[in-house]
Amino acid sequence: MGFYSKYILPKVIDLACGSKIMTRQRARVVPQASGTVVEIGVGTGLNLGHYDAVRVRQVTGIDPCTTSLAMARARATSLPVAITLAQGSAEALPCAANSADTVVSTYTLCTVPRPERALAEVYRVLKPGGRFLFCEHVASPHMRVSAWQDRLNGVWGRCFGGCNINRNVARLVCDAGFEIGEHVSEDIAGEMVFIRHQSAGWARKPAL
Ligand SMILES: C[S@@+](CC[C@H](N)C(=O)[O-])C[C@H]1O[C@@H](n2cnc3c(N)ncnc32)[C@H](O)[C@@H]1O
Repeated sequence: MGFYSKYILPKVIDLACGSKIMTRQRARVVPQASGTVVEIGVGTGLNLGHYDAVRVRQVTGIDPCTTSLAMARARATSLPVAITLAQGSAEALPCAANSADTVVSTYTLCTVPRPERALAEVYRVLKPGGRFLFCEHVASPHMRVSAWQDRLNGVWGRCFGGCNINRNVARLVCDAGFEIGEHVSEDIAGEMVFIRHQSAGWARKPAL
């Protein structure tokens, strides 16, 4: 990992992902988490303050970036929820099968290199009936925007740590075997055009 990725990028992402608009999106999704929670791509911990301490027993946040994890650790210290942070990949979660009530992903499936692999891991780790909560920027349904998303995806990824702006997260979630419970796919007013269209909601691992 180069100097930019290790030391600069986490701060850039913290600033960009800490915007008022994204904070509103987090506040719609994260408080729904309950029980034993795994957060994939916890980053600098911008979601940690949104967990409801009454509903949540424990949060395990996973991210490959140690600089981001250090920032998340600083945020975690003042919170009333039990939080464990660990270096790792969503593609190989260091969690037992059928152990989590909720898995959370906000603005992470854009960056994980193999989102299908990550979602297979989310499925493995969730208990039957457990919920996957997600909020992600996705490919736009507006053809002119999506064409530009395709064109710029490579350059964008090189600037922003491998982020992809043209993924169809709802389709990936369905293909992984989840049952969609709620899914809002909409343009978020005020958001930058390439990340304006966002998918938020939850999906369930089918109960046995
Ligand atoms: C745009 S940031 C979002 C961070 C955080 N989820 C948020 O909502 O603020 C993308 C995050 O995905 C993380 N990431 C990249 N590859 C990953 C992987 N294979 N597994 C888990 N997280 C990954 C990055 O380190 C980064 O923290």
